[in-house]
Amino acid sequence: MLLTNKKIQSIAEKGHYAVGAFNVYDMESVQAVVKAAELENSPAIIATTEGAIEYAGHEFLAMLIKLAAERSKMPFTMHLDHGKDMEIIKNCLKLGYTSVMIDASHFDFKKNIEVTRKVVTMAHKKGASVEAELGTIGGVEDSVSSKNILLTDPRDAKEFVEKTGCDTLAIAIGTSHGAYKFAGESKLDIKRLGEIKNVIKIPLVLHGASGIPDAIVKKARFFGALLGPAHGVSDSDIKAAVANGISKINIDSDLRLTFDASVREVLKTKPEEFDPRKILGPARDQMTEIIRYKMKLFGSSGKAKS
Ligand code: G3H
Ligand code: 13P
Ligand code: ZN
Repeated sequence: MLLTNKKIQSIAEKGHYAVGAFNVYDMESVQAVVKAAELENSPAIIATTEGAIEYAGHEFLAMLIKLAAERSKMPFTMHLDHGKDMEIIKNCLKLGYTSVMIDASHFDFKKNIEVTRKVVTMAHKKGASVEAELGTIGGVEDSVSSKNILLTDPRDAKEFVEKTGCDTLAIAIGTSHGAYKFAGESKLDIKRLGEIKNVIKIPLVLHGASGIPDAIVKKARFFGALLGPAHGVSDSDIKAAVANGISKINIDSDLRLTFDASVREVLKTKPEEFDPRKILGPARDQMTEIIRYKMKLFGSSGKAKS
């Protein structure tokens, strides 16, 4: 069953939980999200970046998601993550995406409003909802203390939402993408989140929310991965974010690390194995398990009505 992000997040807000947005790239990751949702009786947002679309092919990826989601009784959304290219956004709307993100946060405030507004007009005509971004969620190379990270200003957020008509908003409260988020302890600006929540009514989104669990990092390293000092968002910070009004939580790096650790384990422990199904199958199972863990953490387990 496919809903919009606006709908799935509004339901989550009322129920005081958050829906996980999990990035997919192939059949295995799509099936992992859908299976986890079914085992947990949970809603989920199935997200594709422009990079994933380029890798798998847009029609191919969209059809996989649509088929899996429509066959299932669980509530899903088909979402474009970090959309920047207008042609890709248009194609998403043609292919039946129920939600698109326009990430124009790299532009100045005025241009971000202008570009976002344009996407809102386009998407609403097709019944899709729009996530916009205000502030900077750092990239892999950034750290929270980086000068490049601009946390979202609550007053700007209010004006931005009024002027763009976006349905949901990704805010910057100290997270960044990738495996190297913090030099030390996980730290989110929960006070700022509360201030933003006080002035805007639409559902809020937390990007860069992977936990980078020690056990998975250690396993990947044990089987040969070269990883630096990897640190993610702690489970207690995630709980605080949900308690203070976040209703969508984006997870990509934890899935990648889980996949990586599993494939490395098989290749190292079963060097005679060369059947792709025996190499990718366990990775799909492990991804299903980490997604289930996130669903429990976000409070979305048991929340799908069917
Ligand atoms: O923000 C989303 C991702 O973690 C980056 O994904 O490498 O598919 O662009 P990408
Ligand atoms: P992570 O890198 O923390 O998994 O963040 C993913 C994300 O925000 C996708 O949009
Ligand atoms: Zn993101």
